[in-house]
Amino acid sequence: MTDFKKIISHAKEYGFIFPSSEIYDGLSAVYDYAQNGVALKKNIRDYWWKSMVQLHHNIVGIDASILMHPTTWKASGHVDAFNDPLIDNKDSKKRYRADVLVEDYCAKIENKMDKEIAKAAKRFGEAFNPEEFKTTNPRVVGYQEKINTILKRLGQSLEKEDLEDVKNLIEELEIACPESGSRNWTEVKQFNLMFGTKLGASAESAMDLYLRPETAQGIFVNFLNVQKTGRMKIPFGIAQTGKAFRNEIVARQFIFRMREFEQMEMQFFVPPGTQKEWYDQWKQTRLSWHLSLGMGAENYRFHDHEKLAHYADAAADIEFKFPFGFKELEGIHSRTDFDLKSHEEFSGKKLQYFDPERNENYVPYVVETSIGLDRMFLAVFSWALRDETLEDGSTRTVLKLPEVLAPTKVAILPLVKKDGLPEVAQKLMDDLKWNHAVAYDEKDAVGRRYRRQDALGTPYCITIDHQTLEDQTVTIRDRDSMKQERIALDAVGGILNEKLDIKNWLQNI
Ligand code: GAP
Repeated sequence: MTDFKKIISHAKEYGFIFPSSEIYDGLSAVYDYAQNGVALKKNIRDYWWKSMVQLHHNIVGIDASILMHPTTWKASGHVDAFNDPLIDNKDSKKRYRADVLVEDYCAKIENKMDKEIAKAAKRFGEAFNPEEFKTTNPRVVGYQEKINTILKRLGQSLEKEDLEDVKNLIEELEIACPESGSRNWTEVKQFNLMFGTKLGASAESAMDLYLRPETAQGIFVNFLNVQKTGRMKIPFGIAQTGKAFRNEIVARQFIFRMREFEQMEMQFFVPPGTQKEWYDQWKQTRLSWHLSLGMGAENYRFHDHEKLAHYADAAADIEFKFPFGFKELEGIHSRTDFDLKSHEEFSGKKLQYFDPERNENYVPYVVETSIGLDRMFLAVFSWALRDETLEDGSTRTVLKLPEVLAPTKVAILPLVKKDGLPEVAQKLMDDLKWNHAVAYDEKDAVGRRYRRQDALGTPYCITIDHQTLEDQTVTIRDRDSMKQERIALDAVGGILNEKLDIKNWLQNI
């Protein structure tokens, strides 16, 4: 996998992501999506929306506002419990999330494990069975047990709000400040992550609000509106994508942890008692969605939560192998009836469903799938970016994005800027642009133009040359294999439609 710094610089150089307000030296953990980034992001969002809303007759979408009545956040528990445990290093004056320090410590052990496995794979060659090795090699088993013990204790201490024990754990593991190398730590304290703001013109009458820290609450407060107006029958889901805000203290790793980010969430309302089976089903469905993009099953794993959020009776992350290790990409949570019940209590309004099959009223249970759009962007982008050495010894940088997500699907390249070739190219572009995002490039030698498109992730290049004028054929070049094929000019549209049809990607889920 490509070096992380290279990923960040490639994202900037090729117009995917810029630091926010860069002319003022940027704003920490806030980013702007540039011309290619916004297209990739939109394609990821559409891919999610199509699979969740369009392909499920019982899931509908909404777009709730970012600002909500402040009682929402009392009811949801975010005012009281949406905290991160923080610890300061007294020498460097740097602030850290205590749980992240411990998790990073475990990630280092995991690295050692990976090295042992890689060494053994080399030693045993083809006969090597990594799964067997992981469960039988004493050193690797020991590493795994150590990780499990540490994470279990961390989870239990956080669950019990035993912050003293979190500090003890950091001290026992002899974790040092990455900046100063010292182990001179303060106590662990809780810090609320919500951004506050005000609504209203005068200081006296202004109302304190929060920027939403998750999109989910916009769905809960609209549950009955949607159920009634959409005549929805349980089980059914409500999906939405939109901005969320968190005053992350340890915001780092580029767009992995941002202060302003976008979520794609779906709340699935089910009869009480059936949540476990729906939870298992949504875990699998969401994993299949990820796998449909072809980024390798070995790059995903489930992580079941030890520490459950205040609203959940089960929770798991789908983790992805980012350049800095396996980390959470998506969460699947069995949220019980906590949110709807709590909104009933705080609002005094009933949020219940009459189930004709059970012949009773109840507050539904909820299974949620929640994925960060920016984090998904980072997963796709970091996986796709490669430096390749070609057969002739030259190198190329290529962004092997799943074709269905690529910002530009096809580039039209007239071989030269004369002899009527640009006119044919323009006409082809005008035909294709109704169905696909098309780029046109006539500058520089064609080899350099191919490299430019490779770096942008464009899966296909169509070259118009002098032969096109004679026999109405063009070449189509494949980004990944770099193979070129001669095809009829009037077949281009049909071939692209087939290759880029979202159905071919999503129908196996
Ligand atoms: N409604 C449930 C919820 O918000 P979460 O695990 O806190 O659960 C869900 O967040 C997803 O949102 C995460 O899996 C991650 O992909 C994304 N996410 C959370 N915080 C983020 C941040 N600061 N920056 C970018 N993405 C974030």
